[in-house]
Amino acid sequence: MEAKQLYAEEIEKTISGVKKKEEIEGLIEKPKFEEQGDLAFPCFVLAKQLKQAPAKIAEQLANQIQASIFSKVVAVGPYVNVFLNRAEMSKSILSKVLAEKECFGAQSIGEGQVLTIDYSSPNIAKPFSMGHLRSTVIGNSLATVAKKNGYQVVRINHLGDWGTQFGKLITAYKKWGNPDTIKENPIKELLALYVKFHEEAEEKRELEDEARAWFKRLEDGNVEATELWNWFKDESLQEFAKIYQLLGVPFDSYHGEAFYNDKMDGVIKELENKNVLERSDGADVVSLEKENLPPCLIRKSDGATLYATRDLAAAIYRQKTYQFSKSFYVVGHEQSLHFQQIKLVLEKLGYDWAKEIEHIPFGFILQNGRKMSTRKGRVILLEEVIKEAIDLAKQNINEKNPNLVDKDEVAKQVGVGAIIFHDLKNEKQNNVEFSLEDMLRFEGTTGPYVQYTHARACSILRKAKFGEVSSPEDGLDDSYSWAVLKLVDHFPHVVERSFLLRDPSKVAKYVLELAQEFNKYYSHVKILVEDEQYEARLALVKAVTIVLKEGLRLLGVKAPKQM
Ligand code: ARG
Repeated sequence: MEAKQLYAEEIEKTISGVKKKEEIEGLIEKPKFEEQGDLAFPCFVLAKQLKQAPAKIAEQLANQIQASIFSKVVAVGPYVNVFLNRAEMSKSILSKVLAEKECFGAQSIGEGQVLTIDYSSPNIAKPFSMGHLRSTVIGNSLATVAKKNGYQVVRINHLGDWGTQFGKLITAYKKWGNPDTIKENPIKELLALYVKFHEEAEEKRELEDEARAWFKRLEDGNVEATELWNWFKDESLQEFAKIYQLLGVPFDSYHGEAFYNDKMDGVIKELENKNVLERSDGADVVSLEKENLPPCLIRKSDGATLYATRDLAAAIYRQKTYQFSKSFYVVGHEQSLHFQQIKLVLEKLGYDWAKEIEHIPFGFILQNGRKMSTRKGRVILLEEVIKEAIDLAKQNINEKNPNLVDKDEVAKQVGVGAIIFHDLKNEKQNNVEFSLEDMLRFEGTTGPYVQYTHARACSILRKAKFGEVSSPEDGLDDSYSWAVLKLVDHFPHVVERSFLLRDPSKVAKYVLELAQEFNKYYSHVKILVEDEQYEARLALVKAVTIVLKEGLRLLGVKAPKQM
């Protein structure tokens, strides 16, 4: 158990019933200086209830608390500071990690509850953009973190497979498209058509009308339009599947926008029956004037439904199908208004669960300081980027470890890991600058650095020729071990925080810190000397491999044993 929890338990016992353990735990601090102790409890929070001066309480508590995991308990003014018995703590931490293995750190806050998470959700017939990469990577990590916190997670890819853009694409295809070139290189050619449409439409406004007409035909089930749409969709899905395969990202559902076509009428009826729909300039809207927001557009004057209408249907469907207790949408922050509107409309429909819908926004990926845009064709094609990263990783491996078996697989894990890690190490609200060289460095704050540290720890264990590292009988009390152990002990807390803050960067920063601390340990401590603490040191190395690997897994990054 984490030191803080153990301390909280001791305090709870001592003050019997005045405050709960959980509350006490939240109050425990770290003293400013290490010389003052490892943990501090501020007694002024008890002053009112105990009707005593904080310093007095501190003194009494310090006298009463006794536990083998504390080497010293002292009152410092209004605080009770404890010094941990590091040798004892080290044994308890290590045996726990070695016993629980990859289950170490699991939490139960989500037990018995379903969480749906909508992420990636790229648009058909457009390239998988860097923005969708962010959603994919952040969503995948959050889903994994949620599961580790006990949730039953449903991963949903809400494909953008419907909307006026298909009218544009069909128009462009009929004017300038060629089936053979598209079959050869579907996404690239479809993008070229899309870009050309927008260029031409700047001059020729009537193109927009044609596009609207084609979309209307598609909505009405016109055979030619539907066939083209199906074809674009198949080609796109095949391309996306390659990317998900490379990234190692799974989904439970691919119900995209088109899936809700037959549910549109139902939603509109419901909006009408519950009196929330209004006419405005020939269109149907839900007014959000009281909430100081622009109205939510439900149906255009030509009868076409919108992105928002589909999201309303999707939310209702998800609640019916999965009975979620939380529902996440990992989508760029430019859609904040959209999700605010969706939630409010659902509330107006009387759905209590609407408050459990959460938009989890993130910043843009920038290229030389500029936002990437599909319309202008200013995009990097993701598959090419991933392949380039893998190639670079392979060059690196060829230089550093030319005899490595499984080179291709490891290069893939390192190249892909680098991209994912680079994205997740920043707080997700920030915009991220995209630079392959930066993310592939083996030193500094990169994925490969953490992977490399894990591989180094694995290689120590191989050299030790230990079949099974077991719980140590001797404790470790030097400061290098302690720095590592404290972090290992902290992992469960990081798992929980990362979920509560909806922020994978908490995990990314944590594994970086653990890797750095472990490398310090490695360069100062002779691990493979056969003295009394030999087993204990190996147990520590083993625990580090377990936690680094599990931390990387939570991010969606693989941890090769050698690299
Ligand atoms: N396809 C949309 C886009 O690329 C994202 C969809 C997000 N999910 C949702 N349920 N609206 O902008």
